[in-house]
Amino acid sequence: MKFNHELIEKNIGLLGIFTVIAISFGGLVQITPLLFQKDTTEPVEGLRPYSALELEGRDIYIREGCYNCHSQMIRPLRAETERYGHYSVAGESVWDHPFQWGSKRTGPDLARVGGRYSDKWHEVHLIDPRIVVPQSNMPGFPWLMDNTLDGKLTRKKMEILSNFHPDHNMYSEEELAGAEEAVKGKTEMEALIAYLQSLGHALK
Ligand code: HEC
Repeated sequence: MKFNHELIEKNIGLLGIFTVIAISFGGLVQITPLLFQKDTTEPVEGLRPYSALELEGRDIYIREGCYNCHSQMIRPLRAETERYGHYSVAGESVWDHPFQWGSKRTGPDLARVGGRYSDKWHEVHLIDPRIVVPQSNMPGFPWLMDNTLDGKLTRKKMEILSNFHPDHNMYSEEELAGAEEAVKGKTEMEALIAYLQSLGHALK
């Protein structure tokens, strides 16, 4: 049998099959090494798990859809590293499930926002962004001041997150036992701010 290009190019079924094989192989060549590289699988030095309150804040961040306007992924571009600091590396988010990298950049990147503003600034900004940034088009989230946490599920969430740690021991027994107490009665605002302030400290 003569095997030439014409055979494949004139047979849509065959062309489809070979296209899928070519793309899958190309994909595997790129993805497989990443699963075994220390750079992408091990935490950077200084990375610590979220505290109970930060973890609750993270859930509020997701619930309110902050990721629809904010990425947490500083790209290795001059304009971004000058503005936000060191570009994001995989080792910073190995314990983040699901990660909040995002790609929608209506607002600034938040990967290293921790420590940039005071808690009070965040509170005012989240209630009504235009009080501190007059030209802002970010919506306000005033209800976060009224909603309080009961902490009933906090321990469970920490245990689930712990499963992603190779030794399943991300949190000590004391931390787990004190989880409910640590967040009970706190407002959602306090939790969200604690989360924001925790971002980006592992690698400055
Ligand atoms: C509709 C888009 C939108 C949504 C949704 C949104 N933001 Fe923003 N955010 C912006 C814009 C635009 C700015 C820049 C202007 C400003 O500072 O208010 C901003 C600024 C910020 C800043 C200051 C960042 C800096 O480096 O100056 C923080 C912190 C922030 N947002 C947190 C949040 C949080 C937390 C949520 C979810 C509760 C959220 N944003 C939801 C658009 C949005």
